Amino acid sequence: MLHQACSAALRSIKGVFPSANEIGEGKADSPPFQGGESIFPIELGVTPIKPATTCMLKRIARFLRPALVLLAVFLVVGVGGVAFQAIRTLQRLNAVEAGRDSWQKPGQIIEALNLKDGNSVVDFGSGAGYFALKLSDVVGSRGGVIAVDLRNLSLLFLRLRAFLQGKHNIRIIVGDPDDPHLPEASADSVLVLNTYHELRDPESILRHLSRALRPGGRLVIVDRTPSEDETHHHAEPDAVEAGLRRGGFNIISREDTFIHPPGDEVWWLITASKP
Ligand SMILES: C[S@@+](CC[C@H](N)C(=O)[O-])C[C@H]1O[C@@H](n2cnc3c(N)ncnc32)[C@H](O)[C@@H]1O
Repeated sequence: MLHQACSAALRSIKGVFPSANEIGEGKADSPPFQGGESIFPIELGVTPIKPATTCMLKRIARFLRPALVLLAVFLVVGVGGVAFQAIRTLQRLNAVEAGRDSWQKPGQIIEALNLKDGNSVVDFGSGAGYFALKLSDVVGSRGGVIAVDLRNLSLLFLRLRAFLQGKHNIRIIVGDPDDPHLPEASADSVLVLNTYHELRDPESILRHLSRALRPGGRLVIVDRTPSEDETHHHAEPDAVEAGLRRGGFNIISREDTFIHPPGDEVWWLITASKP
């Protein structure tokens, strides 16, 4: 049926094209074309394509075209949507961190880490890099920051922000809950900011952090004191200090009211060192 329809279509097209005789293409010694045949390539047979095959291909193309257009639209909308959300998240991170700078006392935390240009520092539980990005400037291009976290998405944003800010001295490690996979004796200082309370097995993490520190290296832990209303995202400084001592650390200093805004949560800071 389809084949007949295509043949009929071709017959009607034939009349539109001039015959070889009409345009004088027939050679003097060759027999004239019979019946004013068309020079239409299908009939000349240079690359003979069967009309049925042509029609089948056209049918497939007609069938696929809307699906391909739809796929392209989905891709453009999907990629655009993801890019838009990523930009919104980056803007929100920048806004939250700018506000946090006004109360988190980042200058004093950096001071406690006792860093010098060229040092290597670990931001353990880095999240999207609030501190890793600051530490990158402190240790400079001769030094390095190792950012460890469990969450790939947070680390993806850290990677993106480090790239956008041209900070090439940040190395990222995806840790396991009980093992940060840090190289041995690779760090001069380690920061654990707002993360200790999340640790499933703090003693095991302290062992790994001690192994990653060079002798004399600093460990700075900052977290929130439990209150009557809120204990979940908090850590008791007495328990943390006891754990540090058991792990063989020397306690250099402890500030139980490192941050104490009136009517708000209290943060403590403990500075320890590896003997
Ligand atoms: C509350 S966030 C703080 C992030 C960052 N330090 C800050 O102050 O913005 C705690 C982070 O610790 C990470 N974390 C929890 N347990 C961890 C572990 N065992 N090893 C590595 N990261 C961990 C979480 O995935 C989360 O990103």
